Amino acid sequence: MQKITKAVIPAAGLGTRFLPATKALPKEMLPIVDIPNIQYIVEEAVKAGIKDILIIISGAKETIEDHFDVNAELEMRLRASGKDEQADQIRAIADMANIVYIRQKEPKGLGHAVLSAKPFVGNEPFAVLLGDDLITDDIKPAIGELIEAYEETNGGTILGCKRVPQNLLKKYGVVKPVGESNSTMFQVNDMVEKPKDPSLAPSDVAVLGRYVLPGSIFHYLENTKPGVGGEIQLTDAIKASMETNPCYAKVFTGTRYDIGDKFGYVKAIIDYALKRDDIGEQVKSYIKELANQD
Ligand code: G1P
Repeated sequence: MQKITKAVIPAAGLGTRFLPATKALPKEMLPIVDIPNIQYIVEEAVKAGIKDILIIISGAKETIEDHFDVNAELEMRLRASGKDEQADQIRAIADMANIVYIRQKEPKGLGHAVLSAKPFVGNEPFAVLLGDDLITDDIKPAIGELIEAYEETNGGTILGCKRVPQNLLKKYGVVKPVGESNSTMFQVNDMVEKPKDPSLAPSDVAVLGRYVLPGSIFHYLENTKPGVGGEIQLTDAIKASMETNPCYAKVFTGTRYDIGDKFGYVKAIIDYALKRDDIGEQVKSYIKELANQD
């Protein structure tokens, strides 16, 4: 069984739900207080032992590259004014991983974006982390849990999942368990991408933005026709790959925020702010104050 050493982060979406902020700023750079959300995604991969990361970008996303690059001038200015801690902090961002970038030339869907990672990944198994799904990792990084599951299943395809309420199933890829689905890991033999009605969903377990995929997924992606929404769906390629590689749902431990959604984004900011040493207490008293006004 091959070790997982590479991660792919698709960051090519237009971010239309966050206009006007995303007119000039990539949605991946929207901050959770003062940390761009994509930094949390990269940190999750790094905590799971992955150093080689491909970020798939489109259009004007140079700010993402700049964020993970060295900014010698800023560092120098910070050091000159005695702000060594901040200088170290910005340097650490540049040093934490080997990040490369590739452009997805047309917005043809998640499957198409992942297919563009083929030259970077080759024929190895790899991790995929979607930026719209921010997952707390105080206990364990979600992608690390998936990698453990990959090892336990001797190279299975692993989907990071959670149970979601019936009315939300239409937003996700929903898995069909083989037999019982009440444990935190179980085999899957089918998937439905964005079921229009809960009655069409094969369970209440949705895939939430984390995957460990076999290198053979590229073969299936190359043969995947446009599916839901006219897009090349990763779900369809994973479904087809089940014929050669067993697939498992792994229910991860962390709390997941849908930061591609405005309310999900605000919730993430509040929860992450509450946990911080510098402003956590202040935020807490402010929320209490607000609650008392009702
Ligand atoms: C994508 C996948 C879907 C998955 C979701 C996770 O959808 O196609 O299967 O459940 O991410 O957040 P998107 O949210 O990009 O439309």
